[in-house]
Amino acid sequence: MRNVSEATVTEAVTEKFAGCDSPRLKQIIGALVRHLHAFVREIEPNEAEWFAAIKFLTETGHMCDDKRQEFVLLSDVLGVSTFVELINNRKEAGMTETSVLGPFFVEGAPALPMGASIVQDATPADLLVEGMVHDKDGKPVAGAVLDAWQTAPNGKYDVQDPSQPEMNLRGRFTTGADGTFSFRTCLPKEYPVPTDGPVGALLRATGRHPWRPAHLHFMIEAPGFKKLITALYFEGDQYLDSDTVFGVKDSLVVAPAAHGDEGNSRISYSFGLERAA
Ligand code: BEZ
Ligand code: FE
Repeated sequence: MRNVSEATVTEAVTEKFAGCDSPRLKQIIGALVRHLHAFVREIEPNEAEWFAAIKFLTETGHMCDDKRQEFVLLSDVLGVSTFVELINNRKEAGMTETSVLGPFFVEGAPALPMGASIVQDATPADLLVEGMVHDKDGKPVAGAVLDAWQTAPNGKYDVQDPSQPEMNLRGRFTTGADGTFSFRTCLPKEYPVPTDGPVGALLRATGRHPWRPAHLHFMIEAPGFKKLITALYFEGDQYLDSDTVFGVKDSLVVAPAAHGDEGNSRISYSFGLERAA
C-alpha cells in the first residue's frame, strides 16, 4: 500500500477493510470512507481548516456528560436526528408521526390521575389537553402510558431552571378501557436550543437562529405497540417553519380552541399507535 495518490487513496483505504467479517459493518465503514473522501475531495480543506474541524469535534466531545449531549445536539441541528427518525418510523396513513425526543426527557415523571394538572407552581393551568390513544383500526388502546413534558412560560424546562419545582410540567397518565386521556397544563413557550457550546458557535457562525417553536412532548408506550415519541406544536407559532432541529410536521400542529370562560383553552388530539413488529 505504498505511493497512494489522490486518485487511489479511497480504494486503498477501502481495501484495508476487505477482511471485515460483519457484512453490515463492512457496508457501513465502506460508505463512511467513500463519503468522507468524497467530502474531502470536494472541499479540499487546507490544514488550518482540517485542524479547526478536529478542534470542533474535540470540543463537542468535551461538552458531553450524563446531563449534556452536544453530539446529539449536533446531529439535531444538522437534521440527522430527524432523518434517522423518519427512516425508522415510516408511518401508515392515520398513524401519528414522530418528532424529536430532545435532551429534556426525564424518567420517572409522577403518575397522575386523569384530568390532573402537571403544573406544580402558581402558573394557571389554563390549557386542557385531551384525546385518545388508538390502534390502526381506530380501536382504543387501554393501558397506554402517556408521558408528557414541556417548558414553563419562561421557555425553560424544570431541569434547566432551579426556580421551578422538581418534575414541574411533567406527568404520566395511563389510559383506561376507552383509550382516552386528559390533563391540564399551561401553554408551552418557544425556546432556544443550548448555545453555550460548539454547536451554538456553529449556528452563530452560519447565521442560523437557535429557536424551536413551542411544543408539548409525548412518549406513549403500550404493550404490543411500538413506542411513539412525538410532540404537538401550536398554530401561529413564529418558528413553525424554521425549527432549528427540523421537528415540525403539519400533522402535529394543533390550534387551541377557547374552552369555557376565563381565557381557558383546549386541545384535542388522538394518537395512533403502530403494532410492534
Ligand atoms: C427539545 O425539544 O426538547 C429539543 C430537541 C432537540 C434539541 C434541543 C431540544
Ligand atoms: Fe422540547
